[in-house]
Amino acid sequence: MRWHRVIGRHDPLRRHRAAMTDRYAVIGNPIGHTKSPAIHAAFAEATSQDMQYEALLAPLDGFAAAVDAFRAAGGRGMNVTLPFKLDAAAYATQLLPAAALAGAVNALSFDGPAAVADNFDGAGLLRDIVANLGCAVRGRRVLILGAGGAARGALAPVLDHRPAEVVIANRDPNRAVALARDAAANGAVSAAGFGGLRGLSGFGIVVNATSASLHGALPDIPASVFGSDCLAYDMVYGKGLTPFLRLAHEAGAAYLADGVGMLVEQAAEAFAWWRGVRPDTAAVIARMTVPLT
Ligand code: ATR
Repeated sequence: MRWHRVIGRHDPLRRHRAAMTDRYAVIGNPIGHTKSPAIHAAFAEATSQDMQYEALLAPLDGFAAAVDAFRAAGGRGMNVTLPFKLDAAAYATQLLPAAALAGAVNALSFDGPAAVADNFDGAGLLRDIVANLGCAVRGRRVLILGAGGAARGALAPVLDHRPAEVVIANRDPNRAVALARDAAANGAVSAAGFGGLRGLSGFGIVVNATSASLHGALPDIPASVFGSDCLAYDMVYGKGLTPFLRLAHEAGAAYLADGVGMLVEQAAEAFAWWRGVRPDTAAVIARMTVPLT
């Protein structure tokens, strides 16, 4: 007999529980700007899932207590955003490979005492690039800017697609070197400071995984890195033509994209993990897209 049946037989609240709407949330601080509740509400409606998804503001020193309270109130899963991606890794009872490689967690699933952690940011990025934008990674030269959590999450999924090479470039070259070293077993990856990009040109895909665009800043990279058939991808969303995308455009990059597709696709990955149903993303991406002007 399976474990949950034994529990169920002795659980006087079983019927009540079965009738309860499953609860999910995104937890962060601040959290007011989050688009996740709207995205998950659209997915739930489109797939006829009976679930609630809310935004949860946790005190900076109160992540674990807030998650415990949410679980006690029937919470089944959570997305995790800044600044709690490392707290979530410490909280989890199990880290799935993408979360372990990224060194950060963006989704939790609760099942009894288990809190299983995953990270779908990289999978969301690759799904957007390959499936939505129709840009093959296989055999191309890829440049990733940044060496923080966002770059770390992207690297293994990019390498899984067998690019010709990946260069990680960061303002602080030592962080790029450390990240390249951690990923060396997964494929051909090298590290550089921004100065080291001066001699390099013609990448097929350039991903801005720095937080520079959040502050309207431009990573100090040469325009020569953008090849003519290049996809320039900025992970931020809703900011229009960021300085990075403007540089790419002026350098002749053929394709420009911001991170709205990545945001929606990582949400779809989490939704499928929790609910066992993969929602269609195209309509949600189209609704959230801000023109790149
Ligand atoms: P995240 O989890 O979003 O990646 P992070 O770990 O704080 O956040 O990393 C931020 C990244 O953006 C880093 O790679 C940082 O470069 P440094 O490691 O040299 O600090 C990069 N970054 C932030 N502002 C930048 C700017 N104005 N120009 C270039 N890189 C910048």
